[in-house]
Order: sequence, then structure tokens, then C-alpha cells
Amino acid sequence: MEHFKLRSQPFSEHTAGGSLWNDARMEEGLSRLQHLVHALLGLVTGASGLGKSALLKRFMAEQSPQECQTIYCHLAHLPSNGLLKLVLSQLGEVPKRGKDKLYSQILDRARQTDAALLLIFDEAHLLSGDALVDLRLLVSSAIEVGPPLKILLVGQEHIRQTLKRSEYTDIVNRISVRYQLRPLTKEQTRQYIDYQVGHHGGDPKIFDEPVKDHIHEFTGGNPRGINNAAIACLLYATSKRSLRIDEAAFRQASTELHWN
Ligand SMILES: Nc1ncnc2c1ncn2[C@@H]1O[C@H](COP(=O)(O)OP(=O)(O)OP(=O)(O)O)[C@@H](O)[C@H]1O
Ligand SMILES: [Mg+2]
Repeated sequence: MEHFKLRSQPFSEHTAGGSLWNDARMEEGLSRLQHLVHALLGLVTGASGLGKSALLKRFMAEQSPQECQTIYCHLAHLPSNGLLKLVLSQLGEVPKRGKDKLYSQILDRARQTDAALLLIFDEAHLLSGDALVDLRLLVSSAIEVGPPLKILLVGQEHIRQTLKRSEYTDIVNRISVRYQLRPLTKEQTRQYIDYQVGHHGGDPKIFDEPVKDHIHEFTGGNPRGINNAAIACLLYATSKRSLRIDEAAFRQASTELHWN
């Protein structure tokens, strides 16, 4: 990245919460998630790479621990017991043996906190049927005993198909906060590329305007796809000692990504 006089790596997979671009989708998602204050269950969906985990990073950074304690779990493929144990470990508790004890431990913990307890399950499309049913029971028990325990499921689109099945009607009926993340528009893709380059100390003119549109076309406005395409372009230009990415450079770089 020295070649482009960049301070740090743009378009990287891991971006700190404070370095994320606050695009309109994020704004809308954050404003929907604010309603979790009044809700028990929330669902965020979107295709892989659209920015669901990025949205969660922003959301968690904005929560005040006095009002809402957030527990983030992304190992959603674990068997249900393992998942409940993970939640307890993240809460600093030593999980007991047996599902009923795990349940009580989580509910007790929720009862003890002054703040709301929000359990976030990222990659929720990987949750097993058992885990979904157990989370539903956890939420139902929470209603009966009254602690402010909330659950946010965040997953790829097909979780919506799964939840349509009759055994999940209970859980679906309790979802009162929903947000579906969409791809970036053409204009947003341009702005995203400019933001990434500018934020890392580079000149947004590195990418010719038509190239930004081509990147949008090829990636459908998926931020992870845009990152991969932009990095391929930067690497190609670096290998050619060029400081500009024009359409010819884009075409060459894109062949490496098997787009042509
Ligand atoms: N608003 C944004 N600002 C900066 N980077 C973003 C933004 N939205 C998405 N990204 C970047 O796009 C990439 C993909 O985002 P993320 O990992 O959040 O997607 P995801 O929807 O969680 O995908 P998956 O379903 O595969 O987990 C990451 O590198 C992320 O930093
Ligand atoms: Mg993710």
C-alpha cells in the first residue's frame, strides 16, 4: 500500500467499529435496532458479505453497559447445550450440567442485572432446530419471570425460510424488530470506494469513475465483493507501477477474480 501512499490497509475484511462507513443502510439498521429496548426478539437478515456483522459492531459500540449488556455469540453451529454454555461463559459464569440448570443460570443472571441483557447470535442461519426451539423457550421463560432478557438473531437470508416452518411460529410471532440489509446502490458503491481510500489516507481519484461503476456491476453492490475487487485492482496497479486504476486495469484485475 506504500505505492499509493496509504496510511493503512483499505478494503480489509476486519474493520474496527469506529472505522466503518456510516452508510444509509447502517443508519436505518441502527435506528431499527434501537427499538429492541421495547422488544424481546429481533431479526436481521441479509446475504453473505452485505455487512450484518459490521452493523452489529456499530450497534454494540453504541450500547451503554448501564442500559444494555450485550453478549455476542457467533459459534451458532454449536449444539444447543454448547450454545447455552457459551452464553454463560461469556457472562463470566461457570456453566452447570444439564439443560434445565443452564436455563436457570441464564435467567438468574438476567434477573440480577440492572441493565437489559441482550444475547446476540450472529450467523443465526447456522442455528440447529433444537437451538432455535431452546432460544424460544428462553424468551418465553423470560416473559414469565420478568427479567429484561432479549435475543437478536442475525443471519443469512435462508433463516427466514427456516423460520416459516410451523414449529417456529412461536418464535416468529415474538419477533418485533426486523431489518433486511440490502446491497449498496451504484451511488453508494462509489461513495464506499471513496470512503475506503480516503479514510486510509489515499486519493479517491486512484479509481476512475467508470471503474467504480464496473465494480458495482460485477459485485451487485456487495461490500465484501467490492473489497475483493478493489484490492485486486490496487494490486494490479501496484505491479504495473501505476497510480491510477482505469478501465483497462480493471479488466485485467478482474480476470484474476474469474469474472470474465
Ligand atoms: N458500512 C461499512 N463500512 C465499512 N465496511 C463495511 C461496511 N459494510 C460492510 N463492510 C465490510 O464488508 C465486509 C463484509 O461485511 P460483514 O462481514 O459484516 O458481512 P456479513 O453480512 O456479516 O457477511 P456473512 O454473512 O458472510 O457473515 C467486511 O469487510 C466489512 O468490514
Ligand atoms: Mg457476518
